[in-house]
Amino acid sequence: MRLFVSINFTPEITEKIHKCALAIGEQARSANVSRKENIHLTLAFIGETTDIAKAKKFLDAVSFSPFEITLSECGKFGRPGEDIHWIGCKKSAELCDLAYSVRDNLIKSGFDIDTKPFKPHITLARQVVSDAPVVIDVPKLSYKVEKISLMKLERINGKLTYTEIHSKKAEQ
Ligand code: 2AM
Repeated sequence: MRLFVSINFTPEITEKIHKCALAIGEQARSANVSRKENIHLTLAFIGETTDIAKAKKFLDAVSFSPFEITLSECGKFGRPGEDIHWIGCKKSAELCDLAYSVRDNLIKSGFDIDTKPFKPHITLARQVVSDAPVVIDVPKLSYKVEKISLMKLERINGKLTYTEIHSKKAEQ
């Protein structure tokens, strides 16, 4: 099973972020727009593992206090003309501390995780092909993080599908 740890949003916030994804679809010649239910911010990518019980136990041991994240910018990764577009969050100390404590603890628990530097982003669309630069109006949005989620990633009928299999609440 392929797993990752993420921050998921309330339906209201997801809706606002997803509008930006739909706007890309409208502007691009072609794009693989993220489905609304797939909108999330990844803290750590675990990848393929069979040790689900250990991953859940690891998440239970993560301790953090509620904090706010703020959308700050948009950007893209990838090759010109065929890009991944995203909305980024301010790299606050609380957000980076949480991402790196999740990552460090996963490594200490024996998981062979992706160790690319943390770049907090929400993927809006992949394989974007556009003739002109895509314009994204980043909503002025803050979100209180009170929970992190262990997510399962799979393809169901060809569709990238993410399912929460465990979660950990912030300590108030
Ligand atoms: P992305 O949105 O920038 O592709 C599930 O794939 C989530 O884990 C996505 O948010 C994805 O980021 C992120 N992720 C991080 N590292 C990954 C990797 N090595 N392979 C696949 N997804 C990765």
